[in-house]
Amino acid sequence: MTSKIKKIGVLTSGGDSPGMNAAVRAVVRSAEFHKIDCFGIYKGYEGLISDDIKKLNARSVKNIVNKGGTILKSARCLDFKTSEGRLKAKQTLDKYEIDSLVVIGGNGSLEGGKIFEEEHGIKFVGIPGTIDNDLAGTRCSLGYDTALNTATEAIDKIRDTAISHHRLFLVEVMGRDAGFIALNTGLAIGAQEILIPEVNMSSENLINSLKRSKSAGKTSTIVVVAEGDKTGDSVFQLANMIEEKLPKYEVRVSVLGHMQRGGSPSCFDRVIGTQMGITAVESLLNGESRVMIGIQNGKINKTDLSKAIKGKSKINKELLRMSKIMNT
Ligand code: F6P
Repeated sequence: MTSKIKKIGVLTSGGDSPGMNAAVRAVVRSAEFHKIDCFGIYKGYEGLISDDIKKLNARSVKNIVNKGGTILKSARCLDFKTSEGRLKAKQTLDKYEIDSLVVIGGNGSLEGGKIFEEEHGIKFVGIPGTIDNDLAGTRCSLGYDTALNTATEAIDKIRDTAISHHRLFLVEVMGRDAGFIALNTGLAIGAQEILIPEVNMSSENLINSLKRSKSAGKTSTIVVVAEGDKTGDSVFQLANMIEEKLPKYEVRVSVLGHMQRGGSPSCFDRVIGTQMGITAVESLLNGESRVMIGIQNGKINKTDLSKAIKGKSKINKELLRMSKIMNT
């Protein structure tokens, strides 16, 4: 393996996601395997600016593969959006002679790394670490599988009480402005309707669907709402609208929130985190840069960063059609 780099830095940035620790562990251990020094940068890009950096070795990342969150901590760093902040970050890297970076994060984090690479020539590889799954070039981002299972288990619990009280629940799930979590958990839990930002379902169609649910004699009804959905002003405003138009429904709202970001990563997320971390290091050693590691058709692949960031949505609208069949 020809090494065109001297030292590697690794950081986690943006909203954390389960599996980030598996990827950090893989980066650190594969760097050691290939006899390259590796440094952990804490609190995302903030740690680059504030010089919060520590040399890591294989033992530094023991017993974390099964842990949610990220041992490197994370943050959304506004200073890094400025050229002064990025210059400061570059000076910190120079102090440690770090000339290549692995960034584990979502759209904003990888976008920041791309600008940094263009401005300062740092070799850069991204790993899609976000529960939103809103990056092109990968079938799923790191943490998405775990978040789906977490949200599904949570909504199954809501179903129990909805049945006991014959209620309609609006359940809001995360995803920022993408509907992947809502679409897949909605199908998995038998939602009456799934509201996602990629498809504009009018409130009139929603009301008609809820009327059908009532006349079909259903003993509970769940509507899964992606937090970025625009059918109503908010999930609470939707609930008020439904109560006004359908007084027979007893309506409740449940916002799953940040619990979707936590928990022990699934086997799948641990495996892809490990694959992505090793591939990121070996790509840098091969002199590659400006790529995002992904997984498609079961194979690890690389996508040019400019195509990966906020690429064309790959939402599978076929699942919406199938959900409507299942809510007969
Ligand atoms: O990007 C991951 C995510 O969890 C989104 O789904 C959500 O909208 C956002 O982060 C919440 O951001 P914060 O953790 O800063 O409140």
